[in-house]
Amino acid sequence: MFETLEALNPDPILGLMAAFRSDPRTQKIDLGVGVYRDEKGHTPILNCVREAERRLFEIEDTKTYIGPPGTPEFNAVVCTLMFGREHVVLKDKRVAGVQTPGGCGALRVAAELVKRARGDTTIWVSDPTWANHVPLLGSAGLAIKTYPYYDAARHGLAGDAMVEALNRVPSGDIVLLHGCCHNPSGVDLDIAHWRAVADVLADRGLVPFIDLAYQGLGDGLDADAGGVRIVAERCPEVLVASSYSKNFGLYRERVGALQIVSQTAQASAILASQLGSVVRSIYSMPPAHGAALVEIILQDEALNLAWIEELTVMRERINRLRDVLAARLSDAVAQDFSFIRRQRGMFSFLGITPAQVQQLKGECGIYMVDSSRINVAGLNDGNLDYFVDSCRRVLTH
Ligand code: LMR
Repeated sequence: MFETLEALNPDPILGLMAAFRSDPRTQKIDLGVGVYRDEKGHTPILNCVREAERRLFEIEDTKTYIGPPGTPEFNAVVCTLMFGREHVVLKDKRVAGVQTPGGCGALRVAAELVKRARGDTTIWVSDPTWANHVPLLGSAGLAIKTYPYYDAARHGLAGDAMVEALNRVPSGDIVLLHGCCHNPSGVDLDIAHWRAVADVLADRGLVPFIDLAYQGLGDGLDADAGGVRIVAERCPEVLVASSYSKNFGLYRERVGALQIVSQTAQASAILASQLGSVVRSIYSMPPAHGAALVEIILQDEALNLAWIEELTVMRERINRLRDVLAARLSDAVAQDFSFIRRQRGMFSFLGITPAQVQQLKGECGIYMVDSSRINVAGLNDGNLDYFVDSCRRVLTH
């Protein structure tokens, strides 16, 4: 039966990770996959995670199933992290939440639920968006279209074009937004933009679907959830997919959550039952370990503070690297790279051609996504000179 299937090209991001690992050169730099790296180029296990693992080892007394939604405690703590303690949607009990296998699981469960509710819905995604959004959402059978987002000439937000385009999206369609640290561009909406976008969504009856995979890595935990909180105040229904891969460094443990805001507590209870049924029909229930760690950390005051400190170190390192890189590249290549400083999160487009991307990989062992998306966190004092020098060579000849 499977003779009808053909071999596929490697995934544009994960394929790079494999290619980098098998590159025998000692002088090579991985700016591909979006994982945080410290000054030594290592993706560490956070100390608060180690401590939570130690505690879990002591207190966990069963490995029985946790059920499709995950634990109520996990869902409660991540809801507070997302919306803040005082948000009206929590006070009104208008949020239904499930723990998912990573942010990807949350995106897919949401897409399956939308398909169940209204199969002819179109999801509008930013142009560009994360390479995996389209397969994840599209393979649930939903139509995908794009709205303008990134202004390549200005390396910034195409804000007017975006709002204009959203004003033409048919009522009832879904609009996927990146809550912060836009992947792949690093260009975020500021608060004024969020308000303007929330107004359009509410006025036109569009359903916001916010993907927040980098909370805490842009401007801070509350600031990065600011867009979600504004939209949830303004719009009657909101879907929020979140990931704890990056901000807790729990990548391989696959911890995520899906929260759906509805108009009433009653509608929320119906959605909770539907979410459980969608999960059961795809993967039955999520893995427990990583979510238990997040739960322990967020429930314990001291561990929570320790986590915030470690997260702050990661964010400040990335933002410091952005400053240094912008200055060094602008000097070396005699072009303005100051946009790198203004962007947030792990990613920025260098804005170079695909041929130059290939040249950096082939001649210098520097790996980035074909679009010229770099993971800024892959740079450090030990490789920055080599990176800047390689860019100077490739971009000025
Ligand atoms: C990325 O964009 O590099 C990360 O989100 C990892 C992935 O799964 O693509």
